[in-house]
Amino acid sequence: MGKIKKRIINIRKLINYWNYLYYVKNKPIVSDYEYDQAINELILLENCRPDLITPESPTQRISINIKNYYNNITHISPMLSFNSIYKYNDLISFDNKIRNIFKTNHIIYCCEPKIDGVAVSILYKNGKLKYAATRGNGYVGENITNNITNIYNIPLLIKNNSTLIPSLLEIRGEVFLIRKDKSNLFNERNNVAGALRRSNLNASIKKLLGFYCYSANILSNELFFNNHYDLLQHLKLYRIPINKYINCFSNTSEIIEYYNNMHKKRSLLSFSTDGIVIKINSFALQKKLGITNKIYKWAIAYKFPSYEAMTVIKNIIYQVGRTGIITPVAKFNTINIAGANISSASLHNFNEIRKLDIMINDTVIVSRVGDVIPKITKVLLYKRNNNAIKIQIPNKCPVCNSITEFNCNKTKLICTGKLNCSSQFIELIKHFVSKNAINIPGLGNKLIVKLTKNNIVLNLVDIFCLREIDLIKINGINYKLARKIIHEIEQSKRNVNLSNFIYSLGINGVGVVTSILLSKFYKSINSLIITDIKSLVKIKGIGLKIARNIYNFFQDKNNLAMIKTLLSKKVGLKIHKLH
Ligand code: IVH
Repeated sequence: MGKIKKRIINIRKLINYWNYLYYVKNKPIVSDYEYDQAINELILLENCRPDLITPESPTQRISINIKNYYNNITHISPMLSFNSIYKYNDLISFDNKIRNIFKTNHIIYCCEPKIDGVAVSILYKNGKLKYAATRGNGYVGENITNNITNIYNIPLLIKNNSTLIPSLLEIRGEVFLIRKDKSNLFNERNNVAGALRRSNLNASIKKLLGFYCYSANILSNELFFNNHYDLLQHLKLYRIPINKYINCFSNTSEIIEYYNNMHKKRSLLSFSTDGIVIKINSFALQKKLGITNKIYKWAIAYKFPSYEAMTVIKNIIYQVGRTGIITPVAKFNTINIAGANISSASLHNFNEIRKLDIMINDTVIVSRVGDVIPKITKVLLYKRNNNAIKIQIPNKCPVCNSITEFNCNKTKLICTGKLNCSSQFIELIKHFVSKNAINIPGLGNKLIVKLTKNNIVLNLVDIFCLREIDLIKINGINYKLARKIIHEIEQSKRNVNLSNFIYSLGINGVGVVTSILLSKFYKSINSLIITDIKSLVKIKGIGLKIARNIYNFFQDKNNLAMIKTLLSKKVGLKIHKLH
C-alpha cells in the first residue's frame, strides 16, 4: 500500500475514534487544535489522492453517531457551523466574494467575539423556558434543560410589558466558563461540556457558567427584523444576555480594527474567545447566500493566532541551578507561537517527564498564553514511532560529573558537587551580583561565565578584587566598560544593607522576604551567625526547614571564612545595619 493511502486510513481511524469519544462517550481526549491539525492533514492528503475520498471520510460526513439518550431533542432548524480564516488576505477575499455576489459595495457586517464554550439552543414557549439542548451533531442534541435553568444569567421567564413576546422563540448561544484570571484559558469547551452533562450542577460550578446569545429564530412569526443586529438589540429587552462587544461595520479596515482590539483585550475578558465572527447583517442577504449541508455561507470566523503549536522533541538538556537542582529542558524544532520564536521549554522536574510520558522524537503540543513561559502541555502519543528514545535520568551531573541524588520526595534530582560544580558556582555568582543582592548590573551572565571559565573569579571574594586589567583581557570588554564595571563594584560595597547581604549568600529557601524578616529580627550579621534553630523558628514566617538551612549554612567553616573576608578591610564590604 502506498504511503499516502496508509496515512489516510490511519488518520481517518484516529478522527473517527476521537469523534466517538467526543460525541458518544462525552469524553474528548484531544484539544480543538489537535483535532483541526488532523482534519487539515487529512484534507491535504485527500487533495493529493481525490480517488480515495469516500462518503465515509470524516471530511465528508456531517452526521455523527450520537449516544442514545432517552432524552434527545431534534433541533427545529439545524445548528450549523461556519468556515474559519486566519489571515487578513482571507478576510479581503471573503469580502470581495460577497460584494461580487451582491454586486454592491454597501455590505454591513455584524462582528462579534467568537466565544469558546458550548453551543446551546433554548426554546421559550409563551415566554417560558421550555427546554434547552446542546448542539450535538447539529441535528439532534442532548436535553440539558435542568442544567441550563441553573445558569444565573439565563432568564426562565421572559417578561416585558412594553413589547410583544413571541409565542415560540428559539435562542442560540454559547455557554462558557466565566474567567476570573488567566488560569482557565484552555480546555474551556471540555470543562463546560462536562459541567452541562452532569446530572445536577453543584452550586460552585453554577457560579462559574455564563451564557451569551448570538442568534434567535422567532418561530411564531409575530415579530420581524430586517437584520441580525436589530434582532439582538431587541432580545436585550427580554433580558436575554447579549455580549457587549457586538458592533456593525461597513468595510474590512473597520473589521480589522475591531479584530485587533478584541485580540488585545482577549486575556482581560471574562469569557474565553478564540477569534471574531463576521456575519452579514441583513437577513435578506443571509437568506440569498444560504447554507451548505454543514455551514452558513453568510458568516465566517476570523481566528486569533493560536496559543498552541506542534513540534518535535530533538533533545533534552539539563540545567544545574544554584542549589544543585537539575532541571530537564526540552529542545525542539523552532515554532512560532503568537509572534514569539520558541525552541525550548523547561520540563521542571522528572515527575513532569513521567506525567507527560515524554520521549525524544515525540511530537508535542507547546502552549504559551500571553507572556507566560512556554509549556509542553501534551505528547501526541498516536504520532510516536519506533525512533522514540526514552529519557534517561542522569546518575552523574552533566556539568561536573558528581553523583546525583533525588531529594526525599523523589521529585528533584540534585547534583552533589556543591560549589565544585561550575554550574552551581556560576549561578551563585549571578545571584550574588543580582539587583536584590549586592547589585552589580555590569556583571552580566555572559561576563560571569567568562570570568569563571578563565579562572579570574574562583569565589565570591574575587569579585571585589577585580581590576580593570583583568576585565579588559576578556573578549568584548573595552577599557571604558571595564572602568564602569569597577566603579559599580566599588559603589556596591558601600550600598549593601543587611537584608540584601543575607539574600546574597544564597541560602537555600531564603528569598527576599525571609531576608528582610531576618535582618529586622537580628539587626546584625553577627547575631544571625550565632543564632540557633530554636530562635529562628520563633520568627513568624520561618519554618523548621528553612531554619535548619540557615543554621547549617552558618555552621559551615568555609561560609564563615568567606563572610569574614568579605567584611574585612581587604575587601571592604560595608553593611548598613537596617534594610
Ligand atoms: S453564530 C447558530 N456567533 O462557533 C448560528 N457562533 O463553528 C451559528 N460560536 O459551535 C453560530 N461564538 O457555538 C455564532 N458569536 C458567535 C459565536 C458562535 C461562538 C460557536 C458556535 C458554533 C461555532 C461555529
